[in-house]
Amino acid sequence: MAWRRLARCRPLVFACIALLGACSTSAGDPGAVSDAAKAGGANEHGLARLRNPLEGDARAIAAGRDLFAGKACASCHGADARGGMCPSLVDRAWVYGDDDTTLYHLIREGSAGMRAHGYVRGGAAKAVGDMPPLGSAVSEQEAWQLLAWIRAHAAAESTGTR
Ligand code: HEC
Repeated sequence: MAWRRLARCRPLVFACIALLGACSTSAGDPGAVSDAAKAGGANEHGLARLRNPLEGDARAIAAGRDLFAGKACASCHGADARGGMCPSLVDRAWVYGDDDTTLYHLIREGSAGMRAHGYVRGGAAKAVGDMPPLGSAVSEQEAWQLLAWIRAHAAAESTGTR
């Protein structure tokens, strides 16, 4: 089963990297983060602890929902984020962890970025391949909007109040 998921996801990963590579020259530092998101201190990987400044914000959640479709997240994770070809974002199983610090860096720097920070894949979520680095397509603010929507959506999914 695992190899099937990998085989289905991988071409998309490559296509996406190729696509993003074309415009990555305009990218700033994808690991950069504003002071507003810093929660103080550092995690075990030496990354500044982050807290989503837009968590629970209704406008950010709505913007994040649109970005999820517009930034190609949905093409890998499914329109409702339930997974499809790549991991579900609503199943409470996380590859590297569920905290804002981890997910922010994963979205902007991809799986390779996580490895560079010393993260290793955990066993909880199904491993299907690498997520591409999306920092050249997704700004810091957009990453927080996306995470605000993912959190709200996952909470609604798990309680059936969607
Ligand atoms: C080319 C396919 C692809 C695209 C596009 C993509 N992802 Fe991913 N995503 C993945 C894969 C594969 C993983 C698992 C990474 C790993 O195991 O290293 C992942 C992991 C994640 C995770 C952690 C999931 C978990 O269970 O731990 C989040 C959150 C996430 N992606 C959000 C996003 C967002 C937001 C976008 C759009 C900006 C996006 N992804 C675009 C393939 C993709």
